[in-house]
Amino acid sequence: MQRSTGIEEVKARLASARAVTVLTGSGISADSGVPTFRGADGLWRSFRAEDLATPEAFARDPRLVWEWYNWRRELIATKSPNAAHYALVELERRADHFWLITQNVDGLHPIAGTRQLSEIHGNIWKVRCTQCGKVETNRAVPIPLLPQCSACNGLLRPHIVWFGESLDPADLDRSMAALRACEVLLIIGTSGIVYPAAAFAALAKQAGAFVAEVNLDSTPNSQVVDVAIQGRAKEIVPELLQTP
Ligand code: OAD
Repeated sequence: MQRSTGIEEVKARLASARAVTVLTGSGISADSGVPTFRGADGLWRSFRAEDLATPEAFARDPRLVWEWYNWRRELIATKSPNAAHYALVELERRADHFWLITQNVDGLHPIAGTRQLSEIHGNIWKVRCTQCGKVETNRAVPIPLLPQCSACNGLLRPHIVWFGESLDPADLDRSMAALRACEVLLIIGTSGIVYPAAAFAALAKQAGAFVAEVNLDSTPNSQVVDVAIQGRAKEIVPELLQTP
């Protein structure tokens, strides 16, 4: 599909839609300087997920896992939302029904001002007690290694969905409802290979939505969507909100 044609169509669909759902991945934050997972400088190119982002890894060596999350917290703390994050805040303001589903844990969507969102993989600025399950915001950088719960002194872990873990059922339900109800689904900056988010394009399409993708490259989603736009999120997403 030609890029210019695609952009005009997505603009028109967004301008007339009453219900819009957005799915984002690390590509939207790449323009803020946050590393992706599978790109040239992606995290999974230099680190082994099974050593750092699984419940087994945390049980084996919680100190190592916290050290890695401290490094990521330090890196992300210096980053700010970019024009794509802010354009989505504007989209939320305009649409009657809006829901943003993000796989990102960097917290840049809420920092930009998005209110109606599910952070389906968690948030790096939240911690969860491994004993009592209490979730708290904690922005300490660095966080003391082996941090303890303020309620029960249990060991705290990052409030992140690790490999082998399930999404929070309430987040999943809310996301599914938004995918079924939307007129337009906009998918931005995800490789589209991690489930369940990898199935969201097809799900929304089956439910009758117009589905568009913004990504630097083509992805498995590109075959499913109505329009695939290749480009940088921070340039394309604001453009999509301009009057058609
Ligand atoms: P990936 O690293 O797998 O994919 C990033 C995508 O963003 C790629 O398709 C890139 O082409 C695209 N991209 C990069 N820069 C971009 C830009 N400036 N504008 C537009 N697109 C750009 O990251 P995710 O799809 O987010 O899970 O990965 C999904 C999940 O896998 C993550 O949430 C994480 C990881 O393991 C957990 O941590 C639980």
